[in-house]
Amino acid sequence: MIFYFSATGNSRWVALQLAEMTGDRAFDMTKRNPASYDLTGQTIGLVFPIYAWGVPEPVQQFVRALKGSPAFSFAVATCGQEAGRALDKLGEYFPLNSRYSIVMPDNYIFWLEPENGESGREKVEAAKKRLPQIAAEIAKHKPTDEVHRGKMAALKSGPINEGFNRFARSTRPFYADTRCTGCGLCASICPAHTIHLENGKPHWGKSCYQCTACINRCPAGAIQYGKGTRKRTRYRFTDPDEGQNP
Ligand SMILES: Cc1cc2nc3c(=O)[nH]c(=O)nc-3n(C[C@H](O)[C@H](O)[C@H](O)COP(=O)(O)O)c2cc1C
Ligand code: SF4
Ligand code: SF4
Repeated sequence: MIFYFSATGNSRWVALQLAEMTGDRAFDMTKRNPASYDLTGQTIGLVFPIYAWGVPEPVQQFVRALKGSPAFSFAVATCGQEAGRALDKLGEYFPLNSRYSIVMPDNYIFWLEPENGESGREKVEAAKKRLPQIAAEIAKHKPTDEVHRGKMAALKSGPINEGFNRFARSTRPFYADTRCTGCGLCASICPAHTIHLENGKPHWGKSCYQCTACINRCPAGAIQYGKGTRKRTRYRFTDPDEGQNP
């Protein structure tokens, strides 16, 4: 069983690829109740993005609520560059036999231009070449540690991650511009359930993971976060060989 969390599709694609290659099934953890699973004796996979060199809060909550001792468990973190010590921290409260990081296009639109160009395509192609090897190791239950932690990983996954969680998750800069059609997609996909529509326009509550699902996936490109996002492109995973995934 593979559980994934994914805002813009990178981790979902990785989870579905691994499930197909290993004859397993992949489930969206935001739509599942962790308490309803008994992991005893099973092969369990976790696939999710890295947020500020850490494990996203909804993933932590899901994993902490899982019960039972798996026969083999692995985690695959997708990230723009490096994972820091995120997976080591996850291993402190969830038994992990194997851990991997996979570099994928960076979707962090709040600070940078998302990787919709050549660099993003190269990352996806490299991931495609690497996934069969990862799947083969998982199928053999081969303990593996292939994580790109990067420099100063302890600092980044420690105080800097704490700073991100404390100071960089405000919803105050969010607004929908005149292109908003009132379709309601942003409200329905927000994993923090923080968006609601009033008179056909989205409003943000206080809780936010900064996952970028609302801003990157709004079909009208109408969501902004302060001034910086007005000229940036929106990112959603696309398989260069197959086009836009659903
Ligand atoms: C809030 C946030 C923080 C991020 N922090 C990191 C990071 O610390 N290191 C990194 O390499 N990528 C970072 N990224 C990039 C994502 O981990 C990467 O694009 C990921 O593949 C997105 O996965 P998804 O499409 O499944 O949501 C961050 C993205 C977001 C939205
Ligand atoms: S997804 Fe975009 S267009 Fe649809 S309600 Fe939200 S902001 Fe408006
Ligand atoms: S408000 Fe947007 S960025 Fe924040 S958790 Fe919801 S979908 Fe993600």
